Amino acid sequence: MQIIAHRGASGEFPENTLLAIAQAILQGADAIEVDVYAVEGELIVIHDPKLERTTNGSGTIYQHSLAYLQQLDAGEGEPIPTLWQVLKLVQGRCWLNIELKGKDTAKPLLALLARAEQELGLSLSEVLVSSFNHHLLLQLKQSLPQLRLGALTASLQVNYAQYVHDLGMYSVHCDLNFIDQQLVHDAHQLGLKVFVYTVDGLDEISEMQQLGVDGIFTNYPARSRIWAFEAE
Ligand code: G3P
Ligand code: MG
Repeated sequence: MQIIAHRGASGEFPENTLLAIAQAILQGADAIEVDVYAVEGELIVIHDPKLERTTNGSGTIYQHSLAYLQQLDAGEGEPIPTLWQVLKLVQGRCWLNIELKGKDTAKPLLALLARAEQELGLSLSEVLVSSFNHHLLLQLKQSLPQLRLGALTASLQVNYAQYVHDLGMYSVHCDLNFIDQQLVHDAHQLGLKVFVYTVDGLDEISEMQQLGVDGIFTNYPARSRIWAFEAE
């Protein structure tokens, strides 16, 4: 079961910062998950469009210039990183799940991935792009068919994973509250990976092991790794 650091090691460090990501890598996470929006065509890494919860700014990211956003404190003096900075930090160390939160993210992402392949030697197999917005994913699929894509869902659909398979996805990313054995079974029958968010508790980790999911998003990668090992 893959341990995916949710917003970096966000249980212990400020979420979606280079610090939290570096710490997750040090903790041996298999992958890092980050949330992405586009501002002035630049992809930035932050979960909420509203600035108050995770930074010392106020209002929304769309009300400000990129320059203003980049001088904010996103916790422990860490700035809001760009996705490019994250790619540089993560590349070659573990795989990266880029969750597209904002509109207008597909085009800049394609440009950034092309640049990372050129300048950093990035292999697309090290990247998995996900979103709750499945239209965005289809847009990416059309432009870059070999890119691995994951459909995020906060529901349990009547036809289980069939719609995700029909969309040509690599994986289904499910809410812990809705995951069940039939969904895991159905997804695996269809050749899809199953990743579950957000799984931090010992009992939940053990349950995910029993269900046979392929990975969990966790805010505590080091601790979750140990608990997953113990639950095997
Ligand atoms: O990608 C998994 C998870 O991060 C989705 O929900 O709101 O934490 O971004 P959220
Ligand atoms: Mg996320």
